[in-house]
Amino acid sequence: MTKVALITGASKGIGAATALAFSQAQYEVVINYRDDHASANKLVDQIKQNGGAATAIAADVFTDAGVKKLFAQVEKQYSQIDVLVNNAGQPIETNFGQLTTTDITNSLTGNFSSAVMCSQTAIPLMKKGGSILFTGSIYGLNYGSNPNLILYSAGKAALINFAQSLAESYASDFRSNVVAPGYTKTPAWDGTTADDIARLLAQNLQAEWIQADEIANAFVFLAKSPHITGQTIVVDAGWQKIKTI
Ligand SMILES: NC(=O)c1ccc[n+]([C@@H]2O[C@H](COP(=O)([O-])OP(=O)(O)OC[C@H]3O[C@@H](n4cnc5c(N)ncnc54)[C@H](OP(=O)(O)O)[C@@H]3O)[C@@H](O)[C@H]2O)c1
Repeated sequence: MTKVALITGASKGIGAATALAFSQAQYEVVINYRDDHASANKLVDQIKQNGGAATAIAADVFTDAGVKKLFAQVEKQYSQIDVLVNNAGQPIETNFGQLTTTDITNSLTGNFSSAVMCSQTAIPLMKKGGSILFTGSIYGLNYGSNPNLILYSAGKAALINFAQSLAESYASDFRSNVVAPGYTKTPAWDGTTADDIARLLAQNLQAEWIQADEIANAFVFLAKSPHITGQTIVVDAGWQKIKTI
C-alpha cells in the first residue's frame, strides 16, 4: 500500500519542497495550507503530472477548529498516515519591552501549540513505524536565541524538547525528529531588502542561501531512517559554528 505523508504549511516554501520530495520518494502527499489556494492547487497538479498522488486541504492549523477539520478530512480519505511534518510556523517580530500576554499566546500558538495539537490528533492515525517531524529553526538551538525574535525562538526551542518527549513516550510506535533550518530561500523572505539578506547570509560559514529542497531531503532521510529518533538535524550553512565560536 502507498505510504501517506501529511505536510502542514505546504502551499509554498519549505513545506511545498517537502511535499515534492516525499512524492518523489513514492509517498502520496497531503498538502495543508491556509490561504493560497492557487499555489496549493498548482503543486497538486505538478505532483500529478509527475505521476504522483496529492491532495490539498485548506485549514488553519493555528486554530483547534482548523486542526480538527484537517484531520477529519485526512481520516476520511486515508484512514492512516505514515508521516506528519509539522511545518507551519510564524516568525513574528516582537519588541520585548512592549510585548503582551496576547503576543506570547499568538506566537507560541503558531510556533509550538499548533504542532503539539496536530501531533496529538495525528497519533491515532499514525501507522506503526511512522514519523512525526517538525520544522525547527537555528534560533531554537542552544546558543541560537535571537533577541529580535524572542518568542519565535522560544517556541522553536520548545518544539525540539517536545519532539524528544514524543520520541521517548512512543518509541515502540513511531519516531519523532526535528530539522532545524538556517536561512532558507522561500517566499517568507520576499519583503526583505538585499542589504538585510546580505547581512544575514554573512552570519554563515557559507555566505549562501540554503535551498528549500535541502530541508525537504533531510525530512525524507529522517522518515526513512528506522533508528533515528529524538534527534535534530541542523541544516544551517555553518551558522551554528560561527555562533558557538
Ligand atoms: N525560510 C527560512 O529561512 C526558515 C528558517 C528556519 C525555519 N523556518 C521555518 O520553516 C517553516 C516554513 O517557512 P517558510 O520559509 O517555508 O515559509 P513560507 O514560504 O512563508 O510558507 C509558509 C507556508 O505555511 C502556510 N501557513 C502559514 N500559516 C498557516 C496556518 N495557520 N495553517 C496552515 N498553513 C499555514 C502558508 O500557507 P498559505 O500561504 O496558503 O496561507 C505557506 O504554505 C516555518 O515553520 C518557519 O518558521 C524557515
